[in-house]
Amino acid sequence: MNIELSELIYPIFVKKGENLSEEIPLMPGIFRLSPDRLLREVEELAGRGVKKFLIFGIPGRKSRRGNDAYSRDNIVSETIKAIRSRFEGITIFTDVCLCAYTSHGHCGIIKEREKSIDLKETLKALSDMAITHAEAGADYVAPSAMAEGQVGAIRKALNANGYKGTKIMAYSAKFNSNAYGPFRNAANSFPKFGDRSGYQLDHSKKDEALERVREDIIQGADIVMVKPALWYLDMVNEVKNMIERPLAVYNVSGEYAMMKEGARIGLWEEKGIVKEIFSSMKRAGADLIITYYAKEISKWIK
Ligand code: PBG
Ligand code: ZN
Repeated sequence: MNIELSELIYPIFVKKGENLSEEIPLMPGIFRLSPDRLLREVEELAGRGVKKFLIFGIPGRKSRRGNDAYSRDNIVSETIKAIRSRFEGITIFTDVCLCAYTSHGHCGIIKEREKSIDLKETLKALSDMAITHAEAGADYVAPSAMAEGQVGAIRKALNANGYKGTKIMAYSAKFNSNAYGPFRNAANSFPKFGDRSGYQLDHSKKDEALERVREDIIQGADIVMVKPALWYLDMVNEVKNMIERPLAVYNVSGEYAMMKEGARIGLWEEKGIVKEIFSSMKRAGADLIITYYAKEISKWIK
């Protein structure tokens, strides 16, 4: 297979609790795990050569301002510390967004009256969240809230708090996609009212997406991302030709579910379709692929 395991980032869902393992509907083989179970998973994957992880936290409690995202005892920081104390050579990326932590399911803090994002409050919360992850030992924080100026605000906050060495993987061209459903189910992060079109990019607007990439680089992104992957490979290619930074693509939950379901009903042969799709992502210019397939690929390669 023309895929290197070092190019893959495996998303993992960590949930407060003990000995928890809940399979996610429509995402066969992907589980919400409590930290103890997650460590076993990390050990297994690292042993096979998958050493980059993107952590998504599922808190025990949601609130209007998503406080559990940036509280001292947040689930993501707990997990980072546990991984750091047990294993060497792991690159830890953490999702920085509030949607799994807010009672309304939006990615930022909401102004109650207008029901719109309060940008200032949101940037502050995202910065606090990034600092707690950096403090725990994250290598990269990955802001996915699509709040204007989030990369610059986080970079500034990290620097001011002594975390100049913590890098940023920016979800720069994150489109308002129909393919995030299984993930929202996994993270229990469906918006309770409205949708994410106010902050995620319109898929018909290419120039706006390229502009966001440029802005994120100016604001300090170390890695930029295009998301989803499959029906945005034109964007991957354009971004690749425009920038010098490493480029990540996110093979999102709906894409994974589709590839899996196609294999299940006999539409295509699974390894074949994975190989074909991943070589197309690389052909387009992806340096890193965030994928729920990382675990299986590591088994196929051996
Ligand atoms: C949250 C977030 C989402 C994904 C990654 N971070 C969902 C969303 O924007 O609703 C999607 C990932 C996937 O579908 O695999 N900001
Ligand atoms: Zn979000």
